[in-house]
Amino acid sequence: MVALSKFAILGLLGSLVHATLQVVPGGTWTATNTGRHVQAHGGGVLKVDSTYYWVGEDKTNGSAFQNINCYSSSNLVEWKYEGALLSRTSSGDLGPDRVIERPKVVYNKATKKYVLWMHIDSSNYGEAKAGVATGDTPCGKFEYKSSVQPLGFESRDQGVFVDDDNKGYLLTEDRKNGLRIDLLSDDYLTVNSSTYLWADSIEAPAMIKKNGVYFMFGSKLTGWDPNDNVYSTATKISGPWSAWKSFADSGSKTYTSQTNFILPFGDGAVYMGDRWVSSNLMRSTYVWLPLTLSGTTASMKNAVNWVPDVSSGSMTSGPGENIYEGESATLSGGAKSISCSTCSGSNAAGYIGGTDAGVLTFSSVQSNVAARTTIRIKYLNGDSSQRFASVSVNGGTAQTIAFVPASGDPNSSSLNVDLKAGVNTVKISGVNGGWGPDIDRLMVPVS
Ligand SMILES: *[C@@H]1O[C@H](CO)[C@@H](O)[C@H](O)[C@H]1NC(C)=O
Ligand SMILES: *[C@@H]1O[C@H](CO)[C@@H](O)[C@H](O)[C@H]1NC(C)=O
Ligand SMILES: *[C@@H]1O[C@H](CO)[C@@H](O)[C@H](O)[C@H]1NC(C)=O
Repeated sequence: MVALSKFAILGLLGSLVHATLQVVPGGTWTATNTGRHVQAHGGGVLKVDSTYYWVGEDKTNGSAFQNINCYSSSNLVEWKYEGALLSRTSSGDLGPDRVIERPKVVYNKATKKYVLWMHIDSSNYGEAKAGVATGDTPCGKFEYKSSVQPLGFESRDQGVFVDDDNKGYLLTEDRKNGLRIDLLSDDYLTVNSSTYLWADSIEAPAMIKKNGVYFMFGSKLTGWDPNDNVYSTATKISGPWSAWKSFADSGSKTYTSQTNFILPFGDGAVYMGDRWVSSNLMRSTYVWLPLTLSGTTASMKNAVNWVPDVSSGSMTSGPGENIYEGESATLSGGAKSISCSTCSGSNAAGYIGGTDAGVLTFSSVQSNVAARTTIRIKYLNGDSSQRFASVSVNGGTAQTIAFVPASGDPNSSSLNVDLKAGVNTVKISGVNGGWGPDIDRLMVPVS
């Protein structure tokens, strides 16, 4: 009895110590094995056993269809690129200059197939169709089937919802009539019948059911620009559905994001939104935040960072942080302090990497505990493409971290590392002779 509870307490402490990897909404999220910003825009996340699969749009080269990418993670923070479910073909629905948006994968228990629905369109959005593909694994190659205007209506932004009784529904924006819920066939491959229609102009649909209440989330129609997103609730999927209400701080434009998916998590859910940068879509970032669902109310607050604990389902605030200024670290090679009016201390460390192989070394980074954790690197990158840096902690294996363009105020890039208790060294250098970002400061969890 005594031994058991002691074991339980040690287990709890163990999980507290290690569960400090953070989601940094709006930051650069570098995939672990590509060294590049995750390209999974407008996507969705599917949990299979203990693995999360994130399927979304590759916007590396702008808006036209390139790939539907898949990444995997065991903790919702560190994402590994697994490959593309679908890639551009020489002609047809997946051909050059096509629009393919908002891919969503669900599992069909009866057919044992993964089913992918997506918006299929011509470059001027004139076709307005939904397309479907199937796969045997959540993250492998998918076989594209066909596209359709569901029940004869236009379909642009879309999502998929699977109910407790395994019935599948297509959520589809019909510009002429409103937002629809359509019942899918038992194999989820065709649209069976109309379930509900809101005669409101709402796009970016995402649905979740919590304690018997259906929540439908979506945004108003303001193109790539964000607005105050809204939700509606019902106790039956066929309605009646409530009036639309906002769930984030009024006027925040959903913390500058647009809904793409709502992931069930613990007692609540994770809101997953896109912060689109329409002028350069590849640098669009992901705004993921804890969403509270209580009765028929959904609410969400902004956060600079937060910690998802996949084992307990808790979503907690980011830890206290120590701050280390770039210009105060050891600058070697060509690296030097530069003035930067928007940076803390009005300076940053510049000329990292490049022709004179500038290196920045932070040699007194403190942590109270040994932990795998997330350091936020506050940086600037005035280019229109990503910059990269090689980062090594305590002399260990270097990892490549990406930095999407950021001018004006410094942005954050997540660096996930093992810190030891006590003093750590973080060394930042260039990659293959390229210039790294200008580094304003490191924000390092205290514990
Ligand atoms: C990145 O910086 C720009 C200003 O350059 C700002 O508008 C944007 O909100 C920042 N993003 C984040 C995630 O802080
Ligand atoms: C983007 O364009 C470059 C240059 O044409 C090409 O090498 C690369 O494969 C493209 N990437 C994608 C994802 O389409
Ligand atoms: C689809 O509609 C037909 C009638 O048109 C019905 O018999 C069938 O059960 C429906 N499928 C589902 C999944 O409800």
